[in-house]
Amino acid sequence: MEKIVVLATGGTIAGEAASAAEAVAYQAAQRPVAALLEAAQALGDGRHALEARQLVQIDSKDMEIAIWQQLAQACADALARPDVRAVVITHGTDTLEETAYFLQRVLAAAPGSWQQQGKAVVLTAAMRPATARLSDGPQNLADALTLAADARACGVLAVVAGKVFAASEVSKIHPYRLDAFSPGDAGLLAWMEEGSVRWLRTAAPWPQADSRLWRQVQDTPASDWPWVELLASHACSSARALQALLQAGVHGLVLSGTGNATLHHSLEQAATLAQQQGVPVWRSSRCLAGHVVPGAAAAVPLALEDGLPLTPVKARIVLLLDLLLKAS
Ligand code: SIN
Repeated sequence: MEKIVVLATGGTIAGEAASAAEAVAYQAAQRPVAALLEAAQALGDGRHALEARQLVQIDSKDMEIAIWQQLAQACADALARPDVRAVVITHGTDTLEETAYFLQRVLAAAPGSWQQQGKAVVLTAAMRPATARLSDGPQNLADALTLAADARACGVLAVVAGKVFAASEVSKIHPYRLDAFSPGDAGLLAWMEEGSVRWLRTAAPWPQADSRLWRQVQDTPASDWPWVELLASHACSSARALQALLQAGVHGLVLSGTGNATLHHSLEQAATLAQQQGVPVWRSSRCLAGHVVPGAAAAVPLALEDGLPLTPVKARIVLLLDLLLKAS
């Protein structure tokens, strides 16, 4: 039987509170991976051959480039093994969509032929700590193992609350509900039902990627990565925050625009000047649902992937990796 490698990184799924009634005041990233797996397997599903590793133990709001590098390397090492079918990552919900998207971009460039074999990375998380009376972690982890073992799972996916998402489409949209993630207009990839996967559409194959990206990601110390910031356009925006970032040496900016990725005129003017100084600035939308409808070319370009607009946090990752590759 092919193995699933489980990499644990912390989050609420590994969180602990003082009482079983507590689902808000708790400490994330406390329980070790062995305890998480024990709880998932207690749901009756012991059919997978597993190998587990506690990679880090953090609240995902504190995610760092060095951890992303470590995670990408651990995934690539596991997926290159002929006895491994997939990797499951336990993660905090807060930056799950960023780690998922980062891994989708970066692992596509990793050496080996496992991408053509359609191997998968599945991220999962929980909204309630492991100590909660009705914790969602064990079921979510059990679902992630089932999904990872499914031969149709390919690329980087996420599963939470019985819903399966593609890395490029998943976003956290709710701070409390168990059903906290949405695929936006793209719709779900699949549903988890009674220990099996009901696919609604085919998971996309790993994208083509420049293999130099992998070396840059692994060989560039975290302290030398480009500095790319996210700034929102809002009522009464001024140019000052952008100018301060430029002065502080920012290498790239993503502006989280209003509505259809529009920018306050002061910010737009400052962004145009920043571009003239060689600092790339991209636009995205701060709207939670739907996505930007590309219109006429504008001074500040829209952040796109394969012609589709990106959310601000994903646009930031694309710009970060673009700048990292350009530095090679
Ligand atoms: C985290 O993102 O690590 C904490 C919050 C969560 O997992 O829901």
